[in-house]
Amino acid sequence: MRKCLIVANWKLNNNTNTIKKFFHELKKNDHIIINTACHIAIAPSLMYLYLIKKYTINYPNIDLAAQNVDIHLSGAFTGDISAAMLKDIGVRYVIIGHSERKKYHKENNKNIAKKFEILKKTGLTPILCIGENQQEKKNGQTESICATQLETIFKLLGPQAFENAIIAYEPIWAIGTGITDTPENIQATHNFIRNYIAHYNTSIANQTIIQYGGSVNHTNINNLLIQPDIDGVLVGTASLTASTFTKIIKHAQKIKYSSLKINNI
Ligand code: 13P
Repeated sequence: MRKCLIVANWKLNNNTNTIKKFFHELKKNDHIIINTACHIAIAPSLMYLYLIKKYTINYPNIDLAAQNVDIHLSGAFTGDISAAMLKDIGVRYVIIGHSERKKYHKENNKNIAKKFEILKKTGLTPILCIGENQQEKKNGQTESICATQLETIFKLLGPQAFENAIIAYEPIWAIGTGITDTPENIQATHNFIRNYIAHYNTSIANQTIIQYGGSVNHTNINNLLIQPDIDGVLVGTASLTASTFTKIIKHAQKIKYSSLKINNI
């Protein structure tokens, strides 16, 4: 069974004070967080990874995630952070290919594939974001855009590429807009992605966690996670406060693990 993975992408938000408040609030919901069978990760600004590590010490099911990584492991690359450094401080997941990095930092599929490769070599788990923009959606190009983004990775790394990797389908037009596609359309794209990987390797396709991201909140999470190929979510805005993030985890627990009897949830 694929695990349900819920990742908070805090982007360029939160600070020492708000993080303290977040964990104070989270503590009130310990019965939900500690008992859930969902896997959780928090991707703060790199500045605060150590702080999150400190606050999550008593939460074995909350992992550290990073929002970016450099393609080099070490050397004269001012301002960059390497996969080796992230691993060194206990990071497990690294988000790559996010549309905001493509838009504001001119990242392209080739450069993202190199990041994917360095993460695999270092033993970190890439969360590869893929997805179409509004015009591409209108043109009916969702599948071909996702296929191109996946293809670059397969070309560089071969058929085993997605072993122990995670894909996050994030339609760009749904990010931060409050607009989502219908759960059925999202499911269809997730199914397309899984089938695409299955062309290369069926067992890897069946194991690959495919998350959805884009305006996820506690009101739409149920209808998303009920879909068979939506394994988890990558959450921006609704992950910024513990109260909204906890609600998402609570719903995810019910949908994905309702047959498991877990007290107090
Ligand atoms: P929102 O949840 O704010 O739409 O952001 C989604 C996202 O970009 C997660 O990576």
